[in-house]
Amino acid sequence: MIPFERPRRLRRNESWRDAVRETVLRPSDLVLPLFAVPGEGVRQPVESMPGVHRSSPDEIVAEVGRARAAGVRTVLLFGVPDHKHDDGRGAWDAQGPVPAAIRALRDAHPDVLIWADVCLCEYTSHGHCGLLTDRGEVDNDASLPLLSRTAVAYAEAGAHAVAPSDMMDGRVGAIREALDERGHTETAIVSYAVKYASAFYGPFRDAADSAPAHGDRRGYQMDPANAREALREARLDLEEGADVIMVKPAGHYLDVLSAVARESDRPMAAYQVSGEYAALKAAGERGWIDADRAIDESLLCIRRAGADLIVTYAAIEVAERLKRLH
Ligand code: PBG
Ligand code: ZN
Repeated sequence: MIPFERPRRLRRNESWRDAVRETVLRPSDLVLPLFAVPGEGVRQPVESMPGVHRSSPDEIVAEVGRARAAGVRTVLLFGVPDHKHDDGRGAWDAQGPVPAAIRALRDAHPDVLIWADVCLCEYTSHGHCGLLTDRGEVDNDASLPLLSRTAVAYAEAGAHAVAPSDMMDGRVGAIREALDERGHTETAIVSYAVKYASAFYGPFRDAADSAPAHGDRRGYQMDPANAREALREARLDLEEGADVIMVKPAGHYLDVLSAVARESDRPMAAYQVSGEYAALKAAGERGWIDADRAIDESLLCIRRAGADLIVTYAAIEVAERLKRLH
């Protein structure tokens, strides 16, 4: 008996493969995260993330020029301030590195979408994502006005979207209301709706100097064991008015991404986080994997699982490789 079913027929050459390919990745699907520091002419490499820097607003403008040339049209800004405070007040400082970078980018690259991450952990002396009570616990409700204030400051500087990553309950609704009250009805909310307490954030916390001084984030970020809870978090943020919802990390949470994407009527984003990027790069540097191919594959798979947009530190290099292909 010779086989009747022969799936290999459609895999024989690149023309067939191209013709039947279900998923494509485009440069404009990629979102580039950037770390903004104060000053001018500053470009400090982040040791645990090859190719990633902490940059002053002028250097961010230059970096986004390279991204734009490769076809990347969206960036996600994080701030690394010079000073930290108990209440994280640097987060909403109009003179801080993020609003400065937003204004510089609006000027230099008018067709680039600017998303600004909204959280307090880069700005608090204790490194937690919200205000602390006297007992050292994160105070959900007291944190909401501060997060809202931060979102308004970024909208005022010209951000096209604010992206709350703090995981406080009710923050999307609070931020939407604060934005609308100030006339920022066109500022979108990209919510980190489904964010797990993950060991894969390590290199980011080096880059942003945002590791909690005591304890961890398991009291507010999700338990990696839970998938059902992701549907609830996603539903709540959609009801509160999120325009785009995100799942984070991406690579080890494709089941969650796929389930959430099926339930949502809005665009899905996924975040390939610092530790995923660092692991791929490190294995590549040792010659244990072909990092370029592995990174391209990882992003294609995240797309296949249901992400419309993928936040990745590899955005520029991947976009450049995609351009070379077409
Ligand atoms: C801040 C924030 C973190 C990340 C994005 N926003 C770190 C954290 O929650 O500890 C992680 C991004 C990455 O690892 O690349 N709330
Ligand atoms: Zn945080």
